[in-house]
Amino acid sequence: MTGRGRWGRRRPVSDTDRYDVLILGAGAAGMMCAAVAGQRGRRVLLIDRADEPGKKILISGGGRCNFTNIHTAPDRYLSANPHFARSALGRYAPDDFIALVDRHGIAWHEKTLGQLFCDGSARQVVAMLEAECRVGGVETALGEAIGSVGHGDGLFRVELARRTVRAPALVIATGGPSIPKMGATGFAYDLARQFGLKVVEPRPALVPLTLGGEEALFRGLSGVAADVVARCGKAAFREAALFTHKGLSGPAILQISSYWRHGQPITIDFLPDQAARWLVEAKRARPKAALRTVLAALLPDRLAETLADRLGLPGELGGMTDRALEEAGRRLSAWAFHPNGTEGFAKAEVTIGGIDTAGLSSKTMEARRVPGLYAIGEAVDVTGWLGGYNFQWAWASGWAAAQAL
Ligand code: FDA
Repeated sequence: MTGRGRWGRRRPVSDTDRYDVLILGAGAAGMMCAAVAGQRGRRVLLIDRADEPGKKILISGGGRCNFTNIHTAPDRYLSANPHFARSALGRYAPDDFIALVDRHGIAWHEKTLGQLFCDGSARQVVAMLEAECRVGGVETALGEAIGSVGHGDGLFRVELARRTVRAPALVIATGGPSIPKMGATGFAYDLARQFGLKVVEPRPALVPLTLGGEEALFRGLSGVAADVVARCGKAAFREAALFTHKGLSGPAILQISSYWRHGQPITIDFLPDQAARWLVEAKRARPKAALRTVLAALLPDRLAETLADRLGLPGELGGMTDRALEEAGRRLSAWAFHPNGTEGFAKAEVTIGGIDTAGLSSKTMEARRVPGLYAIGEAVDVTGWLGGYNFQWAWASGWAAAQAL
């Protein structure tokens, strides 16, 4: 009998339960951490209740995995401590991951805004991480429900279905609760609390916003998209916004959702390339045109019609005062929406909040008060923008922890 998992090397059964490191969660961060720690000579057990690793990687980037962003910088991450991510992101950069991808012969391309995607399939990224784990002799316990986790005499003990495994180091890499139907849970938070770590209130992020009340009429525009600037507080993103049957989505809205709090308005500039007095100039050039017609030259028809209706300026532009047109221009450049909620964790690409970074070392991800306990990836209160930033955090935090294991 031997004690090896999916990729592990054979070992005599007598020492199968004792490891150098137990990693809970075989997602992006957990696999990276396992591979690097294994290659550094540690005996690693990677545990997941899913029966295959990297499930979120497989569905990411529309199946092509937006695996990093070349513009990665700490200011593209949200956290109660905006400086926390700096060290790990600086030590394991997009170029490091690109070098890994290149070494595995995975073809990739930049889509837009520095976002790198596989030419082929996200499955290649999972296969690459599996291969790296294999090189590191990582052992796995997949499809295993995690029972209780204990700590004493310098060892962490994790109860699995048929055995209890032990190690002096335990890495929490079970992600956040976004997309529960894929098995995502708040397990990381419960475990962190068990060890006295604080948790910054988790909220859905990179998530569609819902509209109600008077603004529900915009839901009639479901399927219409426009290039806009979406703003909330000081945050602003220029990308596409998409009207849905529940409210607003599209990259600009997903980005701004991470900054939005209940009760706040967001504003949308529907015509970011137009000068402040463009409608007054349009009146001079086309006095007989209706507002809806001039808007339809720049925006999708249905959106132009709805906005013109809401502005309530019927008739020809020539019949309107400059002041009324300036005011209409102002509203179009900062149209206020008052979302009544989000589509929740069911539709959120990531979780904002999580294990409080105040209790962790930014260099090693180790809990300051519990030597040997580490937290990495989405479980931690570090959330990136849309566009490959979240995987880069998963790789960087997993790599940083592995250097210390
Ligand atoms: P991750 O969620 O990947 O892994 C956690 C692991 O822990 C899972 O394998 C899970 O099964 C396991 N687990 C959870 N609870 C457990 C328990 N109780 N017991 C045992 N195991 C447990 N980001 C990006 O940068 N580019 C992109 O293209 C995309 N695209 C994208 C699409 C969609 C639809 C989603 C939902 C998300 C993305 N993301 C993304 C975000 C990205 O997927 C996310 O940031 C990383 O997967 C986080 O990696 P982690 O390893 O931290 O968690």
